[in-house]
Amino acid sequence: MPTSDLLYLSHADVENVSLDMATIIKLLEQAFMEKGNGRVEMPPKPGIHTMPDAFIHAMPAYIPSMKSAGIKWVSGYPENFKRGLPYINGLLILNDSETGVPYAVMDCAWVTAYRTGAASALAAKYLARPESASVGILACGVQGRTNLEALSCLFKIKKVYAYDVLPDVQAVYVRDMSKQLGLEVVGVKEPKLAVAQADLVVTSGPILKHPTPTIGKDWLQPGAFASAVDFDSYFTEAALAQMDRISTDDHAQFQYYRSAGYFQQTPDPYADLGELVAGKKPGRQSPTERTLAINLGLALDDMAVAPTIFRMAKEKGLGTPLAL
Ligand SMILES: NC(=O)c1ccc[n+]([C@@H]2O[C@H](COP(=O)([O-])OP(=O)(O)OC[C@H]3O[C@@H](n4cnc5c(N)ncnc54)[C@H](O)[C@@H]3O)[C@@H](O)[C@H]2O)c1
Repeated sequence: MPTSDLLYLSHADVENVSLDMATIIKLLEQAFMEKGNGRVEMPPKPGIHTMPDAFIHAMPAYIPSMKSAGIKWVSGYPENFKRGLPYINGLLILNDSETGVPYAVMDCAWVTAYRTGAASALAAKYLARPESASVGILACGVQGRTNLEALSCLFKIKKVYAYDVLPDVQAVYVRDMSKQLGLEVVGVKEPKLAVAQADLVVTSGPILKHPTPTIGKDWLQPGAFASAVDFDSYFTEAALAQMDRISTDDHAQFQYYRSAGYFQQTPDPYADLGELVAGKKPGRQSPTERTLAINLGLALDDMAVAPTIFRMAKEKGLGTPLAL
């Protein structure tokens, strides 16, 4: 029997590919166009739950036009920081779409971090005011970083207000992101100071089934856009009720999470990101609307990006070939 090799890409290998954020946003836009036109196979993700508020999810998707088929096996553990471990960990497998044979296994933390930021920016392209110039970041972790980077690809950002419950983490974020993006980034002492002054808001704290939400009514200004990367953990019912438009990335997965106990106070999204990109649902309709994107994170996002990572890694001679 003929055997084949697969390429193993460690976290460092994936990082060293240095795929740029602007390209990641374009790849996601292409994938969501396919989804909006019903040309993607992506069953809702099943998961196991070994600890409260923790998950390990299986996320398969097939995007025929991108010849991308595979699965991500990803965990999210809110208490991991106490052990010096990342919140998000996991592996991603790519399969040949004509034979089913796996041809790559890669660490998925980098792809998850970058594609989630890109999905926020893509939603903002349709739901934020184009002249948005200030950003509020609530939680200065991995997502706080990649979401800001992605937003700065599509918007001329002038000022960033950053908040984290841990002042040291916030201070390092302010230093790093000012330098990395050449933006004015200031730390704020309370979440309200980040939300009320921003055109674009990202919440990226822990996802909790029974959260104690912080963002109150009238904090988000008329005309502002928010991306809740951490589900509805940060928004009070009153703040959610004020939203003129709430989008998600997939209706079926949103309803699945609702049935699992999340989003009990959140109105049903009017559109998903595929419908927005494919022009099947309108985006923002006036400069005063408050808009909110709740991207749950889809296998589609990962499968939009991973084949390009693989191809570039091959070109750069990165990774370790393994016998299957
Ligand atoms: N929707 C998606 O597609 C998607 C994808 C990846 C991660 N996530 C979620 O994004 C969140 C962040 O992930 P990450 O990898 O950046 O984790 P991370 O551990 O790197 O960052 C989390 C940050 O939140 C801070 N924090 C905790 N509670 C806070 C609060 N109440 N207010 C402000 N800051 C607070 C922590 O100090 C930490 O800096 C997680 O909930 C994760 O599940 C969502």
